[in-house]
Amino acid sequence: MKWTTIAGAACAVIALASPSVQAQQPIVIKFSHVVALDTPKGKGAERFKQLAEERTKGRVKVEVYPNSSLFKDGEEMEALQLGSVQMLAPSVAKFGPLGVREFEVFDLPYIFDSFDELHKVTDGPVGKALFQKLEAKGITGLAFWDNGFKVMSANKPIRMPADYKGLKMRIQSSKVLGDQMKALGAIPQVMAFSEVYQALQTGVVDGTENPPSNFYTQKMHEVQKYLAMTDHGVIEYAVIVNKKFWDGLPPDIRSTLEGAMKDATKYANDIAKKENDDALEAVRKSGKTEILVLTAEQKASLKKALAPVHKENEARVTKEILTAVYAATGFQP
Ligand code: LMR
Repeated sequence: MKWTTIAGAACAVIALASPSVQAQQPIVIKFSHVVALDTPKGKGAERFKQLAEERTKGRVKVEVYPNSSLFKDGEEMEALQLGSVQMLAPSVAKFGPLGVREFEVFDLPYIFDSFDELHKVTDGPVGKALFQKLEAKGITGLAFWDNGFKVMSANKPIRMPADYKGLKMRIQSSKVLGDQMKALGAIPQVMAFSEVYQALQTGVVDGTENPPSNFYTQKMHEVQKYLAMTDHGVIEYAVIVNKKFWDGLPPDIRSTLEGAMKDATKYANDIAKKENDDALEAVRKSGKTEILVLTAEQKASLKKALAPVHKENEARVTKEILTAVYAATGFQP
């Protein structure tokens, strides 16, 4: 056999073995979150995974870690900054410890009356300004995802502000939420989401607050006798990435992922209300938790009791951001 043929064959083998031809390793995005799969955020994360992998034709692999299975509250943000994880979608109530306290404006009681008002803030200049503040922390904000309006729960009927007196209430790591509970005479306890069920079961805390989708999927109806339809605040998420990772992506990949995130965001926000309505219905059907629908007077007394929390936290969330949110929502302090 002529040596040229042998040489030719050898080159082909070497070429085949060379890295560029070797199946390019997909870019891996670890996406960690703390809630169950059948929730607005759980489904949103799966939808992003599906769209990102489809549209990049496998050049990107999204590994979703739900239910605090990779990092839990209090660990996620640092892991993101270190690059141990590439994507998170924490509640906006969890940015205070990162030093971006302005996000706690979302926690002010009764500041939003509807998803429309909420979107005027998330999709408007305030949302952009808040994401801008993350850049200095090595974090880039991509989108805001809805969950829903919170209910309060406990093992005693909670209709009026006085009913909360002395109750130990679990909250997220937000000073505004701490002040909210104190304004009701309750004792706030910051705790990781993954620890709430057990803390309620053992009585470490007496009650908590969350939208029905989290209440039901974390089985809180098994350990809480009463749920009050207070609608006193929202759980909203900020989808964030490690800035260095995101800026380092090939531009075509980044723009494809931005498109996937845009569509996953629309999907997650479109399903949020129904996910919570269905969860509330499931709680009702379980017969384990009594659902208290408050009268207009009872809701008005809650609003009145909680109103001082706004002024108390004006400096914390900044007058500038607060004024802009009031203007967007029409909230009268
Ligand atoms: C909570 O800690 O109660 C929520 O932020 C959990 C979540 O991500 O919805």
